[in-house]
Amino acid sequence: MTKIAVFASGGGSNLQALLDAQEADLFKGRIVLVFSNVPDAKALERAETAGIEAVALASKGFVGSREDYDRQVLEICRAKGVDLICLAGYMRILTPVLIQPFLHKMLNVHPALLPKFGGEGMYGHHVHEAVIKAKETESGATVHFVTEGVDAGPIVLQGSVKVHPNDTPETLAVKVLEVEHLLYPEAVRLFCEGKVKVENGRVKVLP
Ligand code: GRF
Repeated sequence: MTKIAVFASGGGSNLQALLDAQEADLFKGRIVLVFSNVPDAKALERAETAGIEAVALASKGFVGSREDYDRQVLEICRAKGVDLICLAGYMRILTPVLIQPFLHKMLNVHPALLPKFGGEGMYGHHVHEAVIKAKETESGATVHFVTEGVDAGPIVLQGSVKVHPNDTPETLAVKVLEVEHLLYPEAVRLFCEGKVKVENGRVKVLP
């Protein structure tokens, strides 16, 4: 049984989608930990409501380097025997201290069709604003493995939505989030079934 940790800094609607999918037996894994760098993140409440261990380590005011912080996070994950980390609105750039031990065992969901509209500064409403400004007719969501390049890891799944001329960043965000909520549990299902392999930097989804 794959032991999953979900990392979230905010509202945690993707965490909720994963909790609901677990409840519905959609994947053969168990969320054993919800971690946040924001002690009052709503995601932590969602975890507690679901009876799942919720741990916070405030990044604001943390005394030490980013690496020191990630070493502590790594310890927390190791203590729970975590096999897969799912970043779900985790608003913190990770260091190799955490990325390397979880290489190809850490997923992220991004609210655009990567490699477009990714990288540093491309988060939250910035993404949707950029999509609209570029007059794209299509956007969507991407679940990808986390590597050291921001939003640059191998892509596992993507789902698209139409961008209408009258869409605003807000309306687009709602549509994209709906796709995220379907895509993320599906990616976790594939991972838990051992169907996601990385070969030469690309994902191969086994039948
Ligand atoms: C999502 O749009 C996700 O793509 C991005 O952060 C947002 C998190 O939303 N990485 P939520 O906290 O899961 O509601």
